[in-house]
Amino acid sequence: MAKDKTIYTCQACGHTSVKWLGRCPGCSQYNSFVEERVAGEKKRGGPVIGAATVPESITSVDSARGGRAARDHRVKTGLKEFDRVLGGGMVLGSAVLIGGDPGIGKSTLVLQAMKSLAAGGEKVLYVSGEESMRQIKLRGERLGALAEGLLAWSETNVEKVAETVKELKPSAVVIDSVQTLYSEDLESAPGSVGQVREVAARLIGTCKTLDIPLFLVGHVTKDGAIAGPKVLEHMVDTVLYFEGESSHIYRILRAVKNRYGSVMEIGVFEMTDGGLREVLNPSEVFLAERPEGATGSSVVPSLEGTRTILVEVQSLVCPSLFGVP
Ligand SMILES: Nc1ncnc2c1ncn2[C@@H]1O[C@H](COP(=O)(O)OP(=O)(O)OP(=O)(O)O)[C@@H](O)[C@H]1O
Ligand SMILES: [Mg+2]
Repeated sequence: MAKDKTIYTCQACGHTSVKWLGRCPGCSQYNSFVEERVAGEKKRGGPVIGAATVPESITSVDSARGGRAARDHRVKTGLKEFDRVLGGGMVLGSAVLIGGDPGIGKSTLVLQAMKSLAAGGEKVLYVSGEESMRQIKLRGERLGALAEGLLAWSETNVEKVAETVKELKPSAVVIDSVQTLYSEDLESAPGSVGQVREVAARLIGTCKTLDIPLFLVGHVTKDGAIAGPKVLEHMVDTVLYFEGESSHIYRILRAVKNRYGSVMEIGVFEMTDGGLREVLNPSEVFLAERPEGATGSSVVPSLEGTRTILVEVQSLVCPSLFGVP
C-alpha cells in the first residue's frame, strides 16, 4: 500500500507546501513549517474518543467503566507525594506530561512510581527511547525498583508501542521520553514538532480508548518550556514539572495544569543514592537551619494546596553611612 503523503504547514497562517521552507511566503514567519500527515479527507475532525453517536443527557452517561464505580476511577501509585500532585492518584485513561531539566530525576521518579504500582500486583509498561534494557535494569537495581510486573522495553517506534499496549493492556504506560519516539508516517526527525505531536496523539488515543493511564516524560528547552509544540500541553490532561537545583538534594513536583485536580499541590522529594525519598513534612527541611532567637527571622505558615508548610522569612539589614541606603 502507498505510504500516506505528508505536507508542510505553516503553524502561523496555515500556508501549505510540499517542501520545508525556512520562511513562510504567506505570512513571512521564520521556522513556522511543520510536517503533517495527510490521510485523505476522512482524517479531518475525527470523533472524540469515547464519544456517543448522538447527544445524550448528562445524567444518563455511564461513568462507571471497566467494572469500577465512578469514584474508584483513581488508582493510587503508592508514592504518596506523586499521588497528591496528581490530585489523589492516577485517573484511568488520563495522559500526564512530566517535564523537567536534564538530569533532574524524571526517569527516577516515574520508575519508582511504576515500581510501587507493580509491587501491588499490577502490570505496567515502561518504554524508554533513551536507555538500553541493561541500563534500565542497572537503574532499577540502584533504586530497588525491580518488580515482576514492571515490563521494561527499549523501543522508539510509536506504531510498535501502540500495538503492544493494545495486546498487553497494562495498568499504566510510561514513555521516556516523548521526544525520542517517532512515527513511520512522517519523514521528519524524532523530536521535531510534527513527530512529537503525532507520537503523543497516537499514544493518547490508544490509551484513552483502553482506559490506561499514560505518562509522557518530556524534555525542557533552554528557556524552560516543554520541548515540542505548546499544543502538547493542551493534548494531555495533566502537566507536571519536576524542579530543583541539581546541586541540591531537594526536588519539587508541581502541577501546571490538571483537568482532574488542584494545581496548588506540591510534592517534595529528596534525591539520595538509593533514589527519591518522599519528604512528608517539608517544614522540617525549611526550618532545619534556623538559628533560634535570631533577630530579623520569622516563621510564616503558608498554605500549599491541602497542606500548611512552615517557612522562614529573613529580613537582612545593616547600618548604612549614606543618606540613601
Ligand atoms: N549513584 C547515584 N547516587 C546519587 N544520585 C544519583 C546516582 N545516580 C544518579 N543520581 C541522581 O539521579 C539524577 C539523574 O536522574 P534521572 O536519570 O532520573 O534524570 P532525568 O531527569 O531522567 O534525566 P534525562 O533528562 O537525562 O533523562 C542525577 O542528576 C543524580 O542526581
Ligand atoms: Mg531520563
